[in-house]
Amino acid sequence: MMNREPRRNIILCGFMATGKTSVGKRLAEIARYRFLDLDAAIEEEAGVSIPQIFSSQGESAFRKLESLMVERVAEKTECVIATGGGTIVNPQNLEMLKRCGIVVALTADIPTILLRVGSGDDRPMLQGNRLERIQALMDLRAPAYAQADLIVDTSALSVDEVAQLILDRLREFGFH
Ligand code: S3P
Repeated sequence: MMNREPRRNIILCGFMATGKTSVGKRLAEIARYRFLDLDAAIEEEAGVSIPQIFSSQGESAFRKLESLMVERVAEKTECVIATGGGTIVNPQNLEMLKRCGIVVALTADIPTILLRVGSGDDRPMLQGNRLERIQALMDLRAPAYAQADLIVDTSALSVDEVAQLILDRLREFGFH
């Protein structure tokens, strides 16, 4: 079991398709923490899928729900929390998450992201020309991701490798 101090959760943020959910599940298994997925919590609260929230109520309604869920998960301890790609773009969300845990940003290069998102239409933020959308959002969001406590490039690594790398690096933050 990991030491609880000084911060009690591991929070994964970063762009879409950088591996937040799969790495988060693996990390939780290894650390014996609970795994929480912010997007899943949003869908549960709304009773509909994220694409449905975007199409019926718009992005701003989604962002409000997202911030509400950040407030809720910030109360937890000993959890690995996977956030959505846009969560820490809101500085208040980032601040709240930093207070309740170590914030780890996962990154990946654009060809890797393109490959991983595939052609599915389950990502409302990537409507239209996918490459252009990814590039534009990456540029916009890079300053937010750079504020994470730890940044890990997942492009060339397996889920297990990323999880292990994070655990090794977390020792610097007092996790044992
Ligand atoms: C979003 C990313 C999605 C989800 C929503 C908005 C974003 O999560 O929260 O579609 O703004 O980047 P993933 O990063 O898990 O795909």
